[in-house]
Amino acid sequence: MKRMLSGIKPTGQLTLGNYIGALRNFVNYQDDYEMIVFIANLHCITEYQDPADLRKNLTDAVALYLACGLDPDKATIFLQTDVHAHAELGYILACNTYLGELNRMTQFKDKSAKGEKNMTAGLYTYPCLMAADILLYNANYVPVGEDQKQHVELTRDIAQRFNNRYGETFVVPEPLIAKVGARIMSLSDPSKKMSKSDEANKGCIYLLDDPKTARKKIMSAVTDSFADVKLDKENQPGLYNLIEIASALSGRSMEEIADEFAGQGYGKLKGYVADVVCSELEKIQSRYNEIIESRQIEKILSEGSAKAAAIADETLARVKNKIGLEIKY
Ligand code: AMP
Ligand code: TRP
Repeated sequence: MKRMLSGIKPTGQLTLGNYIGALRNFVNYQDDYEMIVFIANLHCITEYQDPADLRKNLTDAVALYLACGLDPDKATIFLQTDVHAHAELGYILACNTYLGELNRMTQFKDKSAKGEKNMTAGLYTYPCLMAADILLYNANYVPVGEDQKQHVELTRDIAQRFNNRYGETFVVPEPLIAKVGARIMSLSDPSKKMSKSDEANKGCIYLLDDPKTARKKIMSAVTDSFADVKLDKENQPGLYNLIEIASALSGRSMEEIADEFAGQGYGKLKGYVADVVCSELEKIQSRYNEIIESRQIEKILSEGSAKAAAIADETLARVKNKIGLEIKY
């Protein structure tokens, strides 16, 4: 079975976009791949986080992953800091990465171009830590959003360079980019991605939003003045996005939904989308509450990190041996 690995960086609350675009896919992959999913808490602190908020976001992210259907009997789920090899290999790989490569990373470049002050050294070297996250587990595939593709490509370069220099050590991974359509747009501005950094929060549905709040956001979603339900991504992007959300969650095709509401005005369609979204949120939230109450999270993470560490420690030992870091008595 091929191995797949992905990390999430919960610097805020998970959104409906995260669910449709990423989380649900991981849940589907867990049957066909050996799936390793971790919470990238070391990556969170590349920018300051309030400690109480961070702790809550980390716990919620684990609980939501389980609530959405990730099964700890199938997938290995753990917290990055529980496996010490990440930080250690991250440092070793930083010593095998050139400044020129890190300077080219768009996430870092964009932030410096915007004149952002107080950028940390951790933010700069974060792609080396991400490479360590992946290479420790000999992962074949890394499912990520488009914005992370460059980091997986750097991981490939680092792995190949290391293999050439020290002999075959790492599996060279491939990025797996979500299919087109896995990009849910903001409800208040359909030209922008639905994102947890949405300041007004009106365009973004959080997985832990009260269903009433979620319904309100959908009913006031920005559409257009054609007053005609059609599938026209270019001219009616807001409407298209709503139909896409309903289609993704209900399993019905977008055409079928558009046909059903043709000639009925947008209010009816929005009501239907709200019903579908709220019923999904209620399901997720009821499982989320059960999981939080059952106090299973600690046990799941501790079993997950034991399984992960067995793989990671073996890789790290091999790396140290190749480099000549240990003393043979
Ligand atoms: P982020 O929350 O931006 O760190 O993204 C985590 C993952 O969730 C990304 O790799 C994306 O694949 C996915 N994701 C985030 N926002 C959206 C969205 N609006 N539509 C679809 N997928 C998304
Ligand atoms: N950098 C990813 C993000 O911001 C999170 C991440 C950290 C990750 N390490 C990873 C993703 C390893 C895939 C594989 O979304």
